[in-house]
Amino acid sequence: MSNVILKNVRKTYDNNKTVINNVNLEIQDKEFVVLVGASGCGKSTLLRMIAGLEDITDGEIYIGDKKVNNIPPKDRDIAFVFQSYALYPHMTVRENIAFGLKMRKVDKATIEKKVQEAAEILNLTEYLDRKPKQLSGGQRQRVALGRAIVRNPKVFLMDEPLSNLDAKLRVQMRSEIKKLHEKLQTTFIYVTHDQTEALTMGDRIVVLNGGDIQQVDTPDEIYNNPKNTFVAGFVGSPQMNFIEGKELSLDENILYGIRPEKMTKIDGDIKLTVEVDISEMLGSEKIAYFNIGENRCSAKLEPETQIGKTIELSIKQEDLYKFNKETGERI
Ligand SMILES: Nc1ncnc2c1ncn2[C@@H]1O[C@H](COP(=O)(O)OP(=O)(O)OP(=O)(O)O)[C@@H](O)[C@H]1O
Ligand SMILES: [Mg+2]
Repeated sequence: MSNVILKNVRKTYDNNKTVINNVNLEIQDKEFVVLVGASGCGKSTLLRMIAGLEDITDGEIYIGDKKVNNIPPKDRDIAFVFQSYALYPHMTVRENIAFGLKMRKVDKATIEKKVQEAAEILNLTEYLDRKPKQLSGGQRQRVALGRAIVRNPKVFLMDEPLSNLDAKLRVQMRSEIKKLHEKLQTTFIYVTHDQTEALTMGDRIVVLNGGDIQQVDTPDEIYNNPKNTFVAGFVGSPQMNFIEGKELSLDENILYGIRPEKMTKIDGDIKLTVEVDISEMLGSEKIAYFNIGENRCSAKLEPETQIGKTIELSIKQEDLYKFNKETGERI
């Protein structure tokens, strides 16, 4: 079993700043969980505490039902993949992948077999004798993954492993890491600040803000049933429109939310005429930007939509989200 449990976990750095407040989280065996949130919200801190690279101020962490608070990183049965691949420049790919096993005094034949297997899974076989500087960014990242795979860890921890790659390679590596997860059948905990990466990769997503968990759910639930304005605004691009209650009804205590793709030209219950000040043609869709009262909004429209000075849009009642204007909680 390689489940991971966090109970009332808190982290305060020396400067007395609390960066993780009171996190409770249960990650199932073989699950792919993504921790997502803006820069500085505590993602790396949380991951590093699971790895044992950072002390826990309060609370308990269990890996495979064993409390690991006082167990050093090397004995936690985890593998960590960093954003900066952290390869040894003077070693070949083969030596880099084998390094951890060699340190653990695993016998030569077993090391060679494991390196070969990992290289095959990751399409690195033909590069085994090269040095890291002779590889592309994507290939280097695969070597970093190879080094983690050969250890057969109970849990893979990855901190923004794709953020140094260009956009196209990032998309490609996204599905390679998903395939790797299916093949290895182990628990993955993956950190990113990119909501698209979170939505496309996670079995479940943990949305963090300022050291607090905002919501833990499947990508579908996070997108369609956000618990509060933070989650609603964090996932989706362009982001959800927020409109003051008084603009659409008489209730001033409500903040309405509507996704840009749900503001259409098709007949809905609420009709609006808006003044478009910018529009963007993205090939498969056209985005129009405008104000509703003081609220900056956008609509995702068919690419052939003609946009004049004004445009008629409509909203279906059922597509509106309602939030408490004060607390941001979903009503
Ligand atoms: N060693 C440290 N000492 C003091 N404060 C720290 C230390 N490491 C991180 N912090 C602070 O803790 C907070 C959380 O940092 P963390 O690195 O976990 O954020 P993050 O979500 O990973 O951000 P990013 O997306 O930028 O990597 C930040 O405010 C950061 O300044
Ligand atoms: Mg980080």
